[in-house]
Amino acid sequence: MSEAKIYDVPREWAEEAYVDNARYQAMYEASISDPEAFWGEHGKRIGWFEPYTRVKNTRFEPDVSIRWYEDGTTNVAWNCVDRHVAEHGDRTAIIWEGDDPSESRHISYRELASEVQRFANVLKGEGVKKGDRVTIYLPMIPEAAFAMLACARIGAVHSIVFGGFSPDSLAGRITDCGSTVVITADEGLRGGKRVPLKANVDAALAKVGGVSSVVVVKRTGAPVAMATGRDHFYADLAANVSDECPCEEMAAEDPLFILYTSGSTGKPKGVLHTTAGYLVYAAMTHQYVFDYRAGDIYWCTADVGWVTGHSYIVYGPLCNGATTLMFEGVPNYPSVSRFWEVIDKHQVTIFYTAPTAIRALMGAGEEAVKKTSRASLRLLGSVGEPINPEAWEWYHRVVGDHRCPIVDTWWQTETGGILISPLPGATRLKPGSATRPFFGVRPEIVDAEGNVLEGACEGNLVIADSWPGQMRTVYGDHQRFFDTYFSAYKGKYFTGDGCRRDEDGYYWITGRVDDVINVSGHRMGTAEVESALVAHELVSEAAVVGYPHDLKGQGIYAYVTLMAGSSGDETLRKELVGWVRREIGPIASPDLIQFAPGLPKTRSGKIMRRILRKIAEDDFGSLGDISTLADPTVVEDLIANRQNKP
Ligand code: WT7
Repeated sequence: MSEAKIYDVPREWAEEAYVDNARYQAMYEASISDPEAFWGEHGKRIGWFEPYTRVKNTRFEPDVSIRWYEDGTTNVAWNCVDRHVAEHGDRTAIIWEGDDPSESRHISYRELASEVQRFANVLKGEGVKKGDRVTIYLPMIPEAAFAMLACARIGAVHSIVFGGFSPDSLAGRITDCGSTVVITADEGLRGGKRVPLKANVDAALAKVGGVSSVVVVKRTGAPVAMATGRDHFYADLAANVSDECPCEEMAAEDPLFILYTSGSTGKPKGVLHTTAGYLVYAAMTHQYVFDYRAGDIYWCTADVGWVTGHSYIVYGPLCNGATTLMFEGVPNYPSVSRFWEVIDKHQVTIFYTAPTAIRALMGAGEEAVKKTSRASLRLLGSVGEPINPEAWEWYHRVVGDHRCPIVDTWWQTETGGILISPLPGATRLKPGSATRPFFGVRPEIVDAEGNVLEGACEGNLVIADSWPGQMRTVYGDHQRFFDTYFSAYKGKYFTGDGCRRDEDGYYWITGRVDDVINVSGHRMGTAEVESALVAHELVSEAAVVGYPHDLKGQGIYAYVTLMAGSSGDETLRKELVGWVRREIGPIASPDLIQFAPGLPKTRSGKIMRRILRKIAEDDFGSLGDISTLADPTVVEDLIANRQNKP
């Protein structure tokens, strides 16, 4: 193993950060030896109506039950908004930077309080009650945060659907959680292009029933169809309600939100997060991992449609009373300097983005970065997929001028918050490694049989005990929760990721070991793309795998067998790509489609995906044993007709 370069903790960081290495070690050991005491203490970082007396009540076998702070009561919106108004109501809570660089807005905590309460009253007016599910399909505008916090305030459970998902995907998510209210916008605006959100909602609602109210925020002002009785403009509803709405007293384990995410099989799962443990964990990781302090201008470039936006644009930062920047646009509009210009414009001190964006901007050259100052930056973060050392080094040298530590944060929708990451004042950095576990997190590496491996090793990553931010169930399907995460390795949470641990105890995530692929930091189930493909009338069979892609991390490679009598050409390829975009959304567009007369199958008919992966990876030399195939000759055809990387 080639020894990676090591970056020492800069002296001023070791001296001034919340934790240096010695303190990290001490706190980590305390958190593992007595989780009850550790989390009992840190639970106090949020405010409670009724304080908790019971801290941890969790088990992963023989069934799964996860409860934290279970007899306490609180409210997430109170913690993220109200309590800050008294102390620093004039502080900016949200800096909104529009798609167009001439548009931005500062929203103080006092204004946020008023907006959230008004939105809460609008939802109440539409009949939303505690426990009801509300689907949010909004672009990155402040109303997205207002709507989330309004739900939290009245005890409604939000389910945000990323604006890039198709009407079909939206419809599936609305039905699964039984939402009666949908919040959307006339259109979204990204990179100068309009996204027809309201029209997508109309198309989705033509397929599913149960929605009695659609609340439409005007973003572009484009004319949209409004169904009488069902659809209302937010501004009209808001004009008739007050901006005072009391907080619902919520039990610690009452649901806060559902967020759908892809797995290796079946439809996307509704990951359910609850109130208190989630908030404690999101806020605490936000403070320590980013060494957040009053006065920081913190910018996470994610979309609120993903968990990163939930935990590290809205809930974590606002719970800490931070100033959080919300960006509507994209990294390369109007130019490839946009990120760096926004950093200068708003004097951003902490910047958190995804490797796929870094790689794309790297390709645009150093000049686009160097012409900006970035002197305000003190810390950089990375999330969503493994960051290759070249991109890490570029991020460190060019964006951070060698000055800013990088926190490579590993976590998942399911984990609620960061589980493995450097702490900037404590951890020596190795480019490409997420380094060490956060407090209270017990990572283990196991082999296929479930044996726990010691020392330097490689295998599957599991977590041996619960942490407060952990998901509690799959909405409506607790059995699936158990089967997916707790059945592979008894008594442990299985992450789905492969991982290596080095001599220093550092963790290196090697990527998914299941049929989940990570395309530009977006998680896709290969089974979902396959089922979209076979829904096309000319497709008889499809197998989808990931392959290494320079910018996206992984690209989508689809092997497609057509119905007898059909033949594949460029036109059909384009049509299938468009078809999948319409069925799932643009993020699921196949990069390469290979028409294959036959797929490699075992004699019992199971597709051997390992072989398909190898071919897509150009790794023909190590196909392994193909003698068990029903028809070994299909492999030659597959190799001969392999599609070239674009
Ligand atoms: C999967 C989770 C984390 C929130 C956004 C994505 C991969 C995530 C890293 C990282 C290596 C990473 C894993 C994980 N992943 N962060 N720092 N290094 N891999 O959440 O959509 O639930 O995806 O993203 O494979 O399992 P998600």
